[in-house]
Amino acid sequence: MDKYGVFGNPIGHSKSPVIHQLFAEQTGQALTYQAILAPLDGFSHSVASFFAEGRGANVTVPFKEQAFALVGQLTERARRAGAVNTLVKNPDGTLTGDNTDGAGLVRDLTHAGISLTNKKVLILGAGGAVRGILEPFINERPSALVIANRTVSKAEQLAKEFADIATLYPSSFDWLEESFDVIINGTAASLGGEVPPISPQLIHTHTVCYDMMYSKTPTAFCQWALDNGAAQALDGLGMLVEQAAESFYVWRGLRPDTAPVLAELRRQLAL
Ligand code: ATR
Repeated sequence: MDKYGVFGNPIGHSKSPVIHQLFAEQTGQALTYQAILAPLDGFSHSVASFFAEGRGANVTVPFKEQAFALVGQLTERARRAGAVNTLVKNPDGTLTGDNTDGAGLVRDLTHAGISLTNKKVLILGAGGAVRGILEPFINERPSALVIANRTVSKAEQLAKEFADIATLYPSSFDWLEESFDVIINGTAASLGGEVPPISPQLIHTHTVCYDMMYSKTPTAFCQWALDNGAAQALDGLGMLVEQAAESFYVWRGLRPDTAPVLAELRRQLAL
């Protein structure tokens, strides 16, 4: 059986093994997929021993930047992301690093009937998670892409790094006044049950809000969006399943049907 896995630390709560097992069953692919706890100071060693046999792997917190530095070849989207969440073993034994996070988010939005094309889009946050989604977002050709962050200089830095392919507008939270079509929360604020301090005026009746985090009950950001009249508030469970499907496609050349897998995950999360 072809061997796949996910590296992380911690990794015990990872949903990736369940997701990939469901994909494999659905598509009739003979493969195993295991969670691998890599020591914090031993990521490259873990990768080397896994790939003696392994065909591909995902990489999660806190190793995505280390994976980026480790591999010999990068896809364009991984290079732009500055991080790798998908490793592919080449026929000559070398590894290529890819990043499927941004494609996963765009696909989840598409499945929810949300297009970014010609839309005014606000992204909250300017850390690794946001960097990972920028190129796929730019490719959808929004009419404006504003990046607001607590530390404005980090948003400015991202705008500089992507200036060759798009004009991104850096901002602080309190400079924002006009409404947006789509607001993406890519900050870590939801982890602490907080919402970035943005005005409810940014929400219009047609505004879609998306939190890249997810939880059993609505995240703080999703709840804030609904309380302030957003048309839709989505959490990041769909992005998790879609980035996995994109990795599965990279490895196996097949696109699983994500809807039943997302429904199963949502069911398990509610238990
Ligand atoms: P990740 O890889 O998850 O993006 P990160 O690179 O550490 O993690 O970035 C965390 C992001 O969440 C940053 O944009 C951070 O803002 P700063 O750059 O100003 O630190 C943002 N963040 C974290 N906690 C926040 C909070 N309570 N309110 C608003 N933004 C927050």
